[in-house]
Amino acid sequence: MSLNSDVLYSSEYRENPEPVWEQMRDEHPLFYDEVGKIWWLTRYQDVLTVFSDHDTFSSSTYELTTGQVVGPTLISRDDYGHVVRRSIVAPDFVGKRMKSYLSMIEDCSRRLIEKFPENEEVALVRDFSSLLPVDVISSILGMVGEGHLFRQWVTDMIMGLSGSPASRERGLDANTAFCKHITPLLVDVDDPNRTDHIAKIARAEVDGHRLTEKEITAFCGLLFIAGGETTDKAIANMWWNVLTHPEALKNIQDDPKLWSNAFSETMRRTPPVISEDRFTTLPIELYGIEIPKGARVRVCMGAAHHDPTVFRSPNEFDIFRSDLHLEKELRSGNSKDPQRSGHLGFGQGKHFCIGYELARAEAVIGSQLIVEQCGSPRLATPDQRGPIIQGNSFMAVTELGLQFKPK
Ligand code: HEM
Repeated sequence: MSLNSDVLYSSEYRENPEPVWEQMRDEHPLFYDEVGKIWWLTRYQDVLTVFSDHDTFSSSTYELTTGQVVGPTLISRDDYGHVVRRSIVAPDFVGKRMKSYLSMIEDCSRRLIEKFPENEEVALVRDFSSLLPVDVISSILGMVGEGHLFRQWVTDMIMGLSGSPASRERGLDANTAFCKHITPLLVDVDDPNRTDHIAKIARAEVDGHRLTEKEITAFCGLLFIAGGETTDKAIANMWWNVLTHPEALKNIQDDPKLWSNAFSETMRRTPPVISEDRFTTLPIELYGIEIPKGARVRVCMGAAHHDPTVFRSPNEFDIFRSDLHLEKELRSGNSKDPQRSGHLGFGQGKHFCIGYELARAEAVIGSQLIVEQCGSPRLATPDQRGPIIQGNSFMAVTELGLQFKPK
């Protein structure tokens, strides 16, 4: 059956993309979207291949999005410059060093929970998930100030990446406010007592030279928006998945460590980031069709995660899935267990998400604390809407009303 590109821009698709993704996977594994002028790949293996082949599929697409709002950063580079810049910050977000942030994540979570409205419905997104990631990343960067204002900057900067000219304008204004905020923090960066990331990035040298002020603010801006956005959506989607699956909720209440399984399965079933774009650096043939050089290719992780050749009954939410790598993600995508595949919600390869451990820690610690402090949760409205596609590449529950039965 033929597939009309217009469907990708319809509200039906935004609310329920899976039937379209299924048709693409089955009948049009390489689909040319004539409206967006984009080549779509939706099968798991194809998404993995594109993420891994940086020579053919370039991340320079980001020059047109983040590059326009925060300035040039490592995310749009495929060269050695990417590797050296990434190594300035990436080691701090994994393993032992990452563990030093756990108590801060707990403090930030507690502060938000203390402010939950009493004897009233809690709006998870408004009261918690939209704020925690911004509080955490601004604290890691060393920013001092008001969480709601920082949240607004992140929202505006994100909207500016791919929205209308008016949204781009607001995004640029928010970036200007962000830069004004961090510029005074760029003095005294050699103070050995400074452990914040603004100082760390400003002190770092690439081939014997420090980065320019423009590069430093852009680097910090990238961490600010990448760290402040998306984790909110992962938390909200995870709670929606858990609360619409009573068996999973019961298991998690019996063993709160299982929030971590729920996070992995959420990243597969309803990933907050559903697609990433690349430009081809040379003509390439796939499924007997030639994609020209300089074309935009969109890999759809949302569709790949429902590929039934990889995940059985892919639409089911199962926190004990035997075909998914349930533990902390692996940059290489390989699981030691050949029966299990990793989700691709943090990308793969060179540009694999820097904040994957941080995002998981925020979601797990924050959720454990909410249940511990507030009691047994349930949805305030039984016909709660599920995640919908927002913009080009996000998918999330827009709000989630919660009620608690105190212990
Ligand atoms: C659940 C939450 C998150 C999701 C779904 C997510 C998703 C992603 C994805 C898909 C990529 C790869 C982009 C590509 O290949 O085109 C990426 C890269 C990146 N993420 Fe995340 N991310 C999350 C949280 C975070 C956090 C908390 C941080 C803060 C440190 C962060 C920082 C970054 C950075 C800096 C990159 C660029 C890495 C590079 O180009 O080498 N992300 N993220």
